[in-house]
Amino acid sequence: MKMESKILGILGGGQLGRMSALAAARLGITTHIYCPESGCPASLVTPHFTCAEYDDKEALKNFADQVDVISYEFENIPLETVEFLTDLKPVYPGTKLLEVSQDRTREKAFLNEIGIETTRWAPCENPGDISTTLETWQTSKCIIKTARFGYDGKGQIKLDVKDNIPEKWAELNTQHAVIEEIINFDFEVSVVTSRDLMGNIQSYPPVLNDHKNHILSKTTYPAPLSDTLSTQAVEMAETLGAQVNLVGVLTLELFVTKDGRLLANEIAPRTHNSGHWTIDACAVSQFEQHVRAVCGLPVADPAPYQQAEMINLIGDDVKDIPKYLETPGACVHLYGKTESRPSRKMGHVTILKNRS
Ligand SMILES: Nc1ncnc2c1ncn2[C@@H]1O[C@H](COP(=O)(O)OP(=O)(O)O)[C@@H](O)[C@H]1O
Ligand SMILES: [Mg+2]
Repeated sequence: MKMESKILGILGGGQLGRMSALAAARLGITTHIYCPESGCPASLVTPHFTCAEYDDKEALKNFADQVDVISYEFENIPLETVEFLTDLKPVYPGTKLLEVSQDRTREKAFLNEIGIETTRWAPCENPGDISTTLETWQTSKCIIKTARFGYDGKGQIKLDVKDNIPEKWAELNTQHAVIEEIINFDFEVSVVTSRDLMGNIQSYPPVLNDHKNHILSKTTYPAPLSDTLSTQAVEMAETLGAQVNLVGVLTLELFVTKDGRLLANEIAPRTHNSGHWTIDACAVSQFEQHVRAVCGLPVADPAPYQQAEMINLIGDDVKDIPKYLETPGACVHLYGKTESRPSRKMGHVTILKNRS
């Protein structure tokens, strides 16, 4: 019997692309990574690699010719690149989800439109908008975020009405931002959900996320949520997936307020750092789910079998690697980055709990 073997093209060569390529390999699927940086983490584990800019039409065309299906590993791939490729090969998840998650104003408006509650927010195009909004909300503090290209806390500033608002606005260096109410949340959770071409949906249970300097530092499975809130969180992510006709994986980040409400904070149109624990503690990881979905295979019950804690290795945390290599139940993952810098995600460790 002949086995059909697909070639999956992935735009972006970071650690998410790397872990997707490794999951694809396990399923006998070959990957072709497209990334402007040579030596990027995904390029080191893929048989096919194109090193070219995202606006290089000729390179994009050659890439499309060599693959069966295309996906992307991060949301800041230019929309035009994805639109150009969509005319040549199937691209999942499609442009709708990408468009929505690339712009915080569109993202929050869309979430509210489909009945998902977010923090109170308003669009902002000048310092006057900030003063007006603070006055309307009758509040003295807020957070302003660039609408586009923010990540790991970059492109956001906390602000007090007593601050020099034009100065703070200038610091943000944008014309297009959102103002958000500051949430004194109890804790943060996220839900990774997947949906395949047949419309099957499979989600991971919510996990608890701890941040340091706005960067995810630790994820704990399971999250300390009641059954009701846990179900509600999963339903929110699945509603979103259905509304954007998801094929692949998406992640919904949520705040859990002190009075027990769930507020959506951010959408990632992709696998997520808070889902890395699934590689070691589930039958099917978020990366495999993603590969299955975009390659026309069914997503499956992830069947978590182990409580787990995922710790990010950021910058100088690499000094802890020898310790983790000797820790029982520690699964060490390194991304092949040769230089550690502050805030740079170098790898992660999943500690399996309650082992018998
Ligand atoms: N409105 C808010 N109130 C309180 N904390 C916030 C708010 N927005 C963001 N944060 C904190 O900053 C982190 C990063 O913000 P987020 O909007 O998720 O942007 P990104 O992850 O793209 O940097 C959040 O996970 C949360 O800890
Ligand atoms: Mg976030």
